[in-house]
Amino acid sequence: MSKAVLVMGGDGIGPEVIDQAVRVLEAIANADGLNLNIEHRPYGLACYRDHGVLMSEETLADLLEADGVLFGATGGPGYEQVPREVHMQSSLLRIRKEMDVFANLRPVRVPDALLDVSPLRAEVVRGTDLIFVRELTSGLYFGRPKTIEALADGGERGIDTQSYTTAEIERVARAAFDLAGSRDRRVCSVDKSNVMESGRLWRRVVSEVAGDYPDITLTHLLGDNCGMQLVLAPTQFDVILADNMFGDILSDVAAATMGTLGTLPSASFSAPGPDGRRRAFYEPVHGSAPDIAGQGAANPVAAILCVAMLLRHSLERPDLGQRLEAAVDAALAAGVRTRDICPAGGQAVSTEDMAGAILAELAKA
Ligand code: IPM
Ligand code: MG
Repeated sequence: MSKAVLVMGGDGIGPEVIDQAVRVLEAIANADGLNLNIEHRPYGLACYRDHGVLMSEETLADLLEADGVLFGATGGPGYEQVPREVHMQSSLLRIRKEMDVFANLRPVRVPDALLDVSPLRAEVVRGTDLIFVRELTSGLYFGRPKTIEALADGGERGIDTQSYTTAEIERVARAAFDLAGSRDRRVCSVDKSNVMESGRLWRRVVSEVAGDYPDITLTHLLGDNCGMQLVLAPTQFDVILADNMFGDILSDVAAATMGTLGTLPSASFSAPGPDGRRRAFYEPVHGSAPDIAGQGAANPVAAILCVAMLLRHSLERPDLGQRLEAAVDAALAAGVRTRDICPAGGQAVSTEDMAGAILAELAKA
């Protein structure tokens, strides 16, 4: 049976990098006889200009049915003209919520070829290979009340609510422990239990879940300390489990230790449905980068590594995912670099040529 892959390039550099990711996916599908049904849907400002919405309700329905969704990026100049209701109706946050993709995996791996890109000393970052499991559909991003209210003194009060239930913590903790079982068997859970009630519950529930995983080592770090440890000694981590807000911030911190966002993929999963299928949403961590959009300068590696994650997790071909990751490493090791990872004085290649170099490595494998 064929697998349905839904593609939305979105805004900024999203379409450019996703085009190259699809090119790579199609090449692999052709070479290895994968039966894929790849369909494209409009998302973002271009869709808003044509249809008055960022994404149609039909597209949302299709997202829920797809075996995997490959998404580029959202945001950039022009969004200030999109009315708030339109934005809320079809924002990335609504997609995450509707798809219920609560477990967001963000691997951060520093290949030796990119050691010179890091702002940290090579001996500090060498060998970094960690992965975030970020809770993606609750916490501060979604908790109610969430509003700006008027005050009697003429001022206003902005309110967001940090809230987590036992069930929400438990399911994302299980995702982290399950993942650790296929890695170095260590989970570091992040909270702010010295200050926040939601943090106290988070730590308690995660510790209880750990009881079901006797072969996994659980440690806890306060969020601020985790930020510091990521910069001082990123190699100490295997799986980092974090709530929505900490996961957002700390994954950017970890990315900065690499020196670029341009190579980091992510994947988000729901719980399995009655048919055993998990909804899955793949997006590069880097965002829309409007300053370089349309120049052919963007790094397609993050989007291409999203394809590797798609192969592993949704298309049941971990072997092909691994081969693609090896091809990316080989192209980087051969010195092929887009601008964001190109050493001063080096010759940067285009988005398309970076993907071409990866395809060439794949063909050799
Ligand atoms: C991310 C992004 C998003 C988030 C934005 C674009 C809403 O920063 O995926 O990390 O905050 O989750
Ligand atoms: Mg972020």
